[in-house]
Amino acid sequence: MVEKSLRVRKIKHGTVIDHIAAGKALMVMKFLEITGNEGDIVSIAMNVPTGKLSVMKKDVIKIENKELNAEDYDKIALISPEATVNIIRDFEVISKEKVTLPKTIQGIITCINPNCVTNASEPVQPQFDIESNKPLLMRCHYCGMIMNKEDIISIL
Ligand code: CTP
Ligand code: ZN
Repeated sequence: MVEKSLRVRKIKHGTVIDHIAAGKALMVMKFLEITGNEGDIVSIAMNVPTGKLSVMKKDVIKIENKELNAEDYDKIALISPEATVNIIRDFEVISKEKVTLPKTIQGIITCINPNCVTNASEPVQPQFDIESNKPLLMRCHYCGMIMNKEDIISIL
């Protein structure tokens, strides 16, 4: 079989975040707080054709020697709900999961309302209920503020 041309080589251990919406890889990186200072190899490919004849494009992030946690999956889902996360061990894909938005988001995003109790010096963890997936709308559990994707991106 003729190997599809590989823009970025296969990895031995780690995580491949695939099918990220084209152009969103850097936002995902920022949200996951992957800076490159961790020392492991991180490869980012942006605007890659999804198939040989396809005009569709995607971004791909390969993070070597790191396996993501549940909170990371939620973060990816907020930026790019079509993404899949592949865990690689010894060159094999041992798990492939499409990210999904949970009904509530806890702790990972702060409310944009400066008067919200979660922004006061109280020890209250931010919490949002997902109102709609497409377009993404979430409501602050405490002050009722509705935030959309642009609001989330603006505070990353
Ligand atoms: N991958 C990798 N290193 C490996 C194995 C896989 O970097 N050792 C990458 C592939 O390049 C691909 C992703 O992980 O971007 C998923 O691999 P695989 O499931 O083999 O590819 P597809 O079948 O094309 O995935 P999908 O059906 O999810 O599009
Ligand atoms: Zn709030």
